[in-house]
Amino acid sequence: MSEKVDFDKYTDNYNDLLRDSTGFFTSNENYFAEYKVRLARRKVKHQVKRILEYGCGIGRNIPFLESMFPGAEVFGTDISAAGLELAAAENKTATFALESPGLEIGQFDLIFVAGVFHHIAPVERPAVCQLLSNRLVRSGTMTVFEHNPYNPITRSIVNTCPFDADAVLLRPSELAKRFSQVNMTVTDRSFCLFVPPRLSSLVRLEDHLGWLPLGGQYCSVVRHAK
Ligand SMILES: C[S@@+](CC[C@H](N)C(=O)[O-])C[C@H]1O[C@@H](n2cnc3c(N)ncnc32)[C@H](O)[C@@H]1O
Repeated sequence: MSEKVDFDKYTDNYNDLLRDSTGFFTSNENYFAEYKVRLARRKVKHQVKRILEYGCGIGRNIPFLESMFPGAEVFGTDISAAGLELAAAENKTATFALESPGLEIGQFDLIFVAGVFHHIAPVERPAVCQLLSNRLVRSGTMTVFEHNPYNPITRSIVNTCPFDADAVLLRPSELAKRFSQVNMTVTDRSFCLFVPPRLSSLVRLEDHLGWLPLGGQYCSVVRHAK
C-alpha cells in the first residue's frame, strides 16, 4: 500500500483539488457537504446535544452540522493539524482537537464520519472502530460515508486524486464487519450521490435508489448492538 497521505500538505488547495477531480459531479464543493449532512439528519430521530465529526479535515461539513442540528455542541477532530487550523478559523462556534491516543473529549449523541475510513490503513481500522464505539453514547447514532468501490467513476476519481494516493476503498460489508467486531451494528445502509447537482430535479429520485450499488458513495448508519 502507498504511504499515508499527509493532509497537512493539501490544506490550502483541498477544495481546488476536490473540484478538479469531481468536476464531473459538481463545481460547488459545498454540495457534497450539505448533501451528506442532510442525509445524516434524516437518519437521526433522537435528541442530539453533542456531535463529533471524526476526520473533519478543513471543516467543510461543520457549518451544515451546526445549522441542521441547532443548539447542538459541535466538535471536529483530525490528525491533520493544518486542516484543523483552517477549520477553526472558519468555524468559530465549533470546538476542534487533534486526534492523539490520549485525547479525551467525552461521548457524543451523533458521530459523523465522511471519507475518512479509506485513508485509514486496514490494520488500523479495528482500533478506530473501537475508539468511535467508546465515544458514542449507548443510544447514539453514527453515520459513515464512504466511496462506493462498485462505482467505476468513483474508482477513477480516487485513482487520479492526489490526496487519495493512500486510499484503500472498503465495501459496505467490510465496514459492517469491522463494526460488528466492536459490538456495533449497521442498522441502515444506502447508496447515495447518484446524480450531479445540475440534475438536482432528479435528486429526489435518489430516495428510491438507496438499494442500487451505483451511487458515488454509500452511507452506513451504525449503532450499538442491543
Ligand atoms: C478526504 S478528507 C475528508 C474530510 C472531511 N470529513 C470532509 O468530508 O470534507 C479525509 C480526512 O481524514 C483525516 N484522517 C485520516 N486518517 C485519520 C485518522 N486515523 N483519524 C482521524 N482523521 C484521519 C485526514 O487527515 C483528512 O482530513
